Amino acid sequence: MADLDDQKFGKEFQATVAPAVFSTQIRGAGNLDWGMQNRLSHILNPDTGRTVMLAFDHGYFQGPTSGLERIDLNIAPIAGQADALMGTRGALRTSISPGSQCGLVLRASGGPSILRDLSDEYLAMSIQDAVRINASALAVQVFIGAENESRSVRNLTTLVDQGYDFGIPVLGVTAVGTTLVRDARYLGLATRIIAELGAQMVKTYYCDEGFEDVVAGCPVPVIMAGGKKLREEDALEMAYRAVDAGAAGVDMGRNIFQSSSPHAMLKAIRAVVHGNANSSEAYELFRSEAATV
Ligand code: R5P
Repeated sequence: MADLDDQKFGKEFQATVAPAVFSTQIRGAGNLDWGMQNRLSHILNPDTGRTVMLAFDHGYFQGPTSGLERIDLNIAPIAGQADALMGTRGALRTSISPGSQCGLVLRASGGPSILRDLSDEYLAMSIQDAVRINASALAVQVFIGAENESRSVRNLTTLVDQGYDFGIPVLGVTAVGTTLVRDARYLGLATRIIAELGAQMVKTYYCDEGFEDVVAGCPVPVIMAGGKKLREEDALEMAYRAVDAGAAGVDMGRNIFQSSSPHAMLKAIRAVVHGNANSSEAYELFRSEAATV
């Protein structure tokens, strides 16, 4: 309890100064509760609304994919270079330090493996466990146009409701099967549905034509998904174009952990997202960083 001696009534109220108003650059977040905005600010830089997220949740349906054989050795050493990590609760609890200062986006859906129909997902963890882990956000796949579209939408809306109960935002991930075309029309449809149904962030693929319209039509941050491994210079060019078109940064997995130098690739991606580097500058940075390791 505060010491009662020498109590002084405050005098410096500065009554003529207007109360401070706080706002972030995180798109669509202005009307969310404080806790949810605070959690979003652990993922997206509140001053720019951008993020570099490192995805390593692949094992939940792919098993030990190349580059993720040992998350404690492949991911933990570079995790601190990312603004946020996207992983499963199993990977976090076993292979990532609880001393991590990164935002944590927890994979919350699951079910089928790569041997089955991937859209056949359910929610795969409780909101209480997300609180226990101190998740900054929860991630769920949404399979627009796929066999189990409605169930995946239900997974999303259930998670959004649970998230509001605890102040935890949701990242809706557009899951595009092999038969669907990743064009602006499809991605615009999927991202808009996900945002309108309550997700506070959307992760989606880049498309060459009309990506700026996909971003403009989605009222929450659109974070570019990485996708299959490309040459480093091509992945950096894709990230540059996406950010230039308004994306709130990237959530990349294979293009980082399958790179010849994951550490250098993360640095180069950061230069694009946070340093406004173009892809040539970022690739030069990648080459020089890769040469030093
Ligand atoms: C999407 O299906 C999952 O979120 C992935 O496991 C992961 O995030 C994809 O990362 P990337 O495509 O960049 O390897």
